[in-house]
Amino acid sequence: MSYETFAHSIDGHTRLLGVIGDPIHHSLSPAMHNLAYAELGLNYRYLPFHVRPQDLADAVHGLRAIGAIGFNATIPHKEKLLPLMDEVDPMAQMIGAVNTVRIGADGRMQGYNTDVYGFKTALRDSFFLPLESLSIVVLGAGGAARGVLMGLLQLGAKHIFLVNRTFSRAEGLAEQCTLLFPDAVITPLEWNPETLPLAQCELLINTTSLGLKDGDALPLDLSCMPAQGFVYDIIYSPVVTPLMAAASLQGLSTENGLGMLIHQGARAFEIWTGVKMPVTKVKAKLLSILS
Ligand code: ATR
Repeated sequence: MSYETFAHSIDGHTRLLGVIGDPIHHSLSPAMHNLAYAELGLNYRYLPFHVRPQDLADAVHGLRAIGAIGFNATIPHKEKLLPLMDEVDPMAQMIGAVNTVRIGADGRMQGYNTDVYGFKTALRDSFFLPLESLSIVVLGAGGAARGVLMGLLQLGAKHIFLVNRTFSRAEGLAEQCTLLFPDAVITPLEWNPETLPLAQCELLINTTSLGLKDGDALPLDLSCMPAQGFVYDIIYSPVVTPLMAAASLQGLSTENGLGMLIHQGARAFEIWTGVKMPVTKVKAKLLSILS
């Protein structure tokens, strides 16, 4: 892009969007949304904002005060955003986590959860077995886990083990989900590598932030997973996460969170702009950025 084009690409009509998180440097959302604006010629810009937990309310009110039209939230803000909203969409309310906020012209903030849609669409793109009869292990019990769990249950999953470092969080989430889906058996478990039920686990999903940082290793032994086991990590950067690398060594199929990122982002994009994200083109460009 020439200097002139660059200088004129932002003007008094440019609309601001962004993503808040801690950490945030790993996020591909800015690239994804800005690629889509460029593709469609929309005068919007999407920025990453490093917001620490203690600054969440200030950041949210600040974004509203400067006229941002919306934002995404990632680790660790998804649950804490709920009480800051003026309205919460039923799906986000049910999940207890907001990842997408629309700020109206009147400053009212509407919270949505597009993670469930993103996860379901991405899982269905890469994993074809019916979920009803499978034994599934979900690692983590934070905001992202809520979306994943709800997606699995909506897709018909009936047997889920929910494993978390803080056991009480797993217990609480399992209890809430069981109330919503009484037919499903959701068992909370302590994070103890020796007692995890991996021998019968056909689908293992990591929703924790372990793997985001260089040097993170998942304290899990995947060698007892069945040969047809599938390992899904909702992390997408690195493209091959430590969990995926360990799974591949065992000959297991794997998928990262890029598909989920794109599909949740596409839904958020539509909420903000009213038009569809050009998903295929954006995905191809993101893959070239990542590789
Ligand atoms: P998000 O809203 O994106 O899910 P979160 O609510 O902070 O973010 O949840 C992060 C998840 O990663 C939690 O399940 C957390 O476990 P705790 O509930 O015990 O905090 C998990 N997590 C983060 N760091 C971890 C670590 N070092 N080992 C194991 N689990 C970890």
